[in-house]
Amino acid sequence: MSKFIIQGGNKLEGEVKISGSKNAALPVIAATILNAGKTTLYNVPNIQDVHTMFEIIRKIGGTVTKKKNKIIIDTSKIHTYEIPDELMRQMRSSVILAGALIGKYKKARFSYPGGCDIGSRPIDLHLKGFEKLGVNIKEEYGEIYCLAEKLIGTQIHLDFPSVGATENIILSATLAEGTTVITNAAKEPEIEDLVKYLNKMGAKIKGAGTDKIEIIGVKRLAEISYNIMPDRIEAGTYLVMGAITAGNLKLTNVQPEHIVPILNKLEEANCKLKIEKSEIEINAPKRIKAVDIKTMPYPGFPTDMQSIFGALLTTAKGTSMIIENIFESRYKYVQELNRMGAKIKVEGRTAVIKGTKRIQGANVVATDLRGGAALMTEALYAKGITQIENIHYILRGYENIEEKLKKIGAKIYLEK
Ligand code: UD1
Repeated sequence: MSKFIIQGGNKLEGEVKISGSKNAALPVIAATILNAGKTTLYNVPNIQDVHTMFEIIRKIGGTVTKKKNKIIIDTSKIHTYEIPDELMRQMRSSVILAGALIGKYKKARFSYPGGCDIGSRPIDLHLKGFEKLGVNIKEEYGEIYCLAEKLIGTQIHLDFPSVGATENIILSATLAEGTTVITNAAKEPEIEDLVKYLNKMGAKIKGAGTDKIEIIGVKRLAEISYNIMPDRIEAGTYLVMGAITAGNLKLTNVQPEHIVPILNKLEEANCKLKIEKSEIEINAPKRIKAVDIKTMPYPGFPTDMQSIFGALLTTAKGTSMIIENIFESRYKYVQELNRMGAKIKVEGRTAVIKGTKRIQGANVVATDLRGGAALMTEALYAKGITQIENIHYILRGYENIEEKLKKIGAKIYLEK
């Protein structure tokens, strides 16, 4: 089992180039099914979740070729509408393929998705959306069969602005007859990126980035090339890693308008920021000030940054409070941080963090992707050496994290 070994206490200084967004790339890769032809993608992150998505595309008859910095996907020979169970279990976002298969072929068969264990993560809103578009859904032995004679545009109101459900409905409605309107839609930038990609292919979708999205069905889509947006959670992670080490970092290839709540909290914690069009510089104080955080759907503070910011707050002057409003089991990392000397108490959706300077290296275990990133953040600050196990979670979502951190002065080693 590979692990990260990190010696803490080194200031992070220098430049980090942010990679393409995981959560934008995954739905766009699924959406390549819709044109039953070729797509060329740029800025696709080289991470495990993307490889899993490629594997599914290949298993159902597509081809994926890498040429220098571009990925060419050909979906003209898709021959099955079944998403392999073992791959479905590896990654929750594989559920997004259902929308693309239904959208193009009016059928899909899949099992309940896996992914990080951060809460119950149902897919009821996705299925209700499909049903409203005219899909018949049968569930048997944990498998879900979807079949439609016709897909007809309709009105869909989401009980909660789910990112995945919004994306799945968009994908299944793009080639439908008539117009679909989603209200209480999720407003995340990754949805805007997916819609930009679809519209470039010839789709007619309006309102992405707002809570009302209108999809006017079209007959066919063209072969195009597309550049995936930068990863806002990776950007937030490096900013926080800079902040916890009292460092001085410059991020390039970022979209600052996507991470406003993270930037605001860093400023509130006394970090100095210089924000340009696609660059951010952070200059962190010796010790940050405690701040409170509440996770919310976009444009609120992202749940994916909760654990990473939580790690930063363990070292703050004063006591901070976090309220997690999106996923109920997103505090598994707390136990591991407390082993390193952090003083965090969790009660339901609330965590109270008493800042301390006494954080020590320890042997810890990553419990999920962002929880793992939180352990790395803490380890960069800690006195002595931290060994992190179960790092496959971290490698699912961060491209070249070891090399990127080494380049800015971290003492990190990946033991294979
Ligand atoms: C996406 C992101 C994930 C991020 C999350 C919230 C991807 C690949 N993943 O996940 O990194 O943490 O958005 O920003 O883009 N829910 C239901 N029924 C459903 C669907 C969701 O009750 O059918 C609930 C979930 O349990 C959760 C909330 O809605 O409490 C938000 O989930 P959702 O926005 O769907 O997150 P994902 O799309 O899974």
